[in-house]
Amino acid sequence: MSEFIDPPQTANTNCTAEQYEADYARSLSDPDGFWLEQARRLDWVDAPTKGGEWSFDPVDITWFADGTLNLCHNAVDRHLADKADKTALIFEPDDPDGEVRTLTYADLHREVVRMANALKAMGVTKGARVTLYMPTVVEGVVAMLACARLGAIHSVVFGGFSPEALAGRIIDCDSQFVITADEGLRGRKPIPLKANVDAAVDEHDTPVKGVLVIAHTGADIAMKQGRDHWYADLASEGDCPCEPMNAEDPLFILYTSGSTGKPKGVLHTTGGYGVWTATTFHYAFDHRPDDIFWCSADIGWITGHSYVTYGPLLNGATQVIFEGVPNYPDHGRFWQVIEKHKVSIFYTAPTAIRALMREGDRFVTAHDRSSLRLLGSVGEPINPEAWRWYRDVPGEGRVPVVDTWWQTETGGIMLTTLPAAHAMKPGSAGLPFFGVQPQLVDNDGGVLEGVAEGNLCLTASWPGQARTVYGDHDRFVQTYFSTYNGKYFTGDGCQRDANGYYRITGRVDDVINVSGHRMGTAEVESALVLHPHVAEAAVVGFPHDIKGQGIYCYVTLNAGDDGSDALAEELRQQVRKEIGPVATPDRIHFTDALPKTRSGKIMRRILRKIAENDYGSLGDTSTLADPSLVDRLIEGRVSG
Ligand code: PRX
Repeated sequence: MSEFIDPPQTANTNCTAEQYEADYARSLSDPDGFWLEQARRLDWVDAPTKGGEWSFDPVDITWFADGTLNLCHNAVDRHLADKADKTALIFEPDDPDGEVRTLTYADLHREVVRMANALKAMGVTKGARVTLYMPTVVEGVVAMLACARLGAIHSVVFGGFSPEALAGRIIDCDSQFVITADEGLRGRKPIPLKANVDAAVDEHDTPVKGVLVIAHTGADIAMKQGRDHWYADLASEGDCPCEPMNAEDPLFILYTSGSTGKPKGVLHTTGGYGVWTATTFHYAFDHRPDDIFWCSADIGWITGHSYVTYGPLLNGATQVIFEGVPNYPDHGRFWQVIEKHKVSIFYTAPTAIRALMREGDRFVTAHDRSSLRLLGSVGEPINPEAWRWYRDVPGEGRVPVVDTWWQTETGGIMLTTLPAAHAMKPGSAGLPFFGVQPQLVDNDGGVLEGVAEGNLCLTASWPGQARTVYGDHDRFVQTYFSTYNGKYFTGDGCQRDANGYYRITGRVDDVINVSGHRMGTAEVESALVLHPHVAEAAVVGFPHDIKGQGIYCYVTLNAGDDGSDALAEELRQQVRKEIGPVATPDRIHFTDALPKTRSGKIMRRILRKIAENDYGSLGDTSTLADPSLVDRLIEGRVSG
């Protein structure tokens, strides 16, 4: 049986196979010409004449550098001419019986102006950093757009991060303003957003001077005089023009985890990111004006930035935004929302697909999915079994599935098949998007040709590429461009088949992907060693049926301390406090020592193999200072 599945034939498509071939070739031979044309998807105050001006050694990247535009104008105001009455947002609340809020582009414009005026009243100006700690509700999207309108730089922090983590991100970008809600709601569980902001700001030395609070659940919360403001009190409808921005002015910062150190503030700029998200949305989802698009991501992650806020609205699309979870009130919630709002394009993560697959088909088939014409997956490798289920059951075997690979740093989709153009291969992301030049290299940097497996690099810049790490360009250079000089290294392992299709095998660095959430093992280790009983910790990933990867922690204790269930629970709580519930360890393995080389380096390869229950390939253990430790670690392996 062929692994490839032909796409359904579609009469009106944004891209045929022939067009892809021609446009992809042109995007490499004449990138400036190609991207200056794509840039016309947006309205510019001053149209750019320059395309990409970039170097990966030294690292300096610009696109459309002489262009001026505002992305809020592009996402909202410019649609007023012909789409004022078109639905922009359909908000589906956590509670299936709760109130659905529908906003036209005219409504969205009014809301964004109200929010921008509220931000101005707090003192937000062009270039100011504004931290958002918000649920995925209308005001979350509106707040991002209002920042863009004023030229302020938003930094959204996912609501599943703790006050400690929030404080760290506020301090790192010297953010004086926070936008939050009284609470969020996920599966009826309230998330104490405002209380967390209070803990972050009151217990740390932050520069915060203004907190804007949206009344969402109506919970009784504390308001600090002079610092905290109810949104309703500051919102006003007066005129609020869009600030003209240079294409290379920053649009947002988004913190993401890497192999070492604290999370990095990845910085995206205005013009290139706008063009990239607008173009990828148009092609990868083969978007048509009458589509109802739904991306289930939280706005706290890059997917929520690029394919909730910017990509769809830049294209004048109609989309659903959803605050809830896939399993409340039951495992049919996604399909119920699709039926209710007649969703035609649905974009979600493998972890949700796997979790729902496990619950059985009846939750899916209970709902009408005839409106669906395209399904998408993002965030982690999707195993072929889950891919097939997604297509066959929710997709009734009739709709194409796109498996889109990209990263916070890439700004938008980089590898995917195009829905009407390319055969699909379950488990493979597929082909490079326009302008994307993937390269596989071995561990020594040797370039691998043809059918191969190696480390995935990108050899040329693309408009949506992150420009720097906020406040630390050296770290940007070190993290992404120093492993293989002159190339952007993704941190992912990858295979290329005879058809040129790419399949991501997972991270090859010390980053793990837990339910599509990117986690630095070093961050979890730092959180663990803060506990007074812990001497040392080493954290690795292990395969997890639902989450993709789970968090496995090896912990050594101080002399005289014993590992107990109670202590393991304390350590879990410690990590939740330092990072947040998203980083809760799955397994804690107390050990008397960690495997080290004679020079004292922890041999993580061995720890990974033991956590994976893969003892056959432990490799050379003779360089260990204490070879007998391996047997003790295997014996003590924590499972289930
Ligand atoms: O390992 C890859 C995995 O997610 C990483 C990027 O994580 P983040 O920056 O949080 O962005 C996630 C949403 C774009 C990548 O380095 N990843 C993302 N999409 C896929 C994937 N792995 C396999 N297949 C994908 N489609």
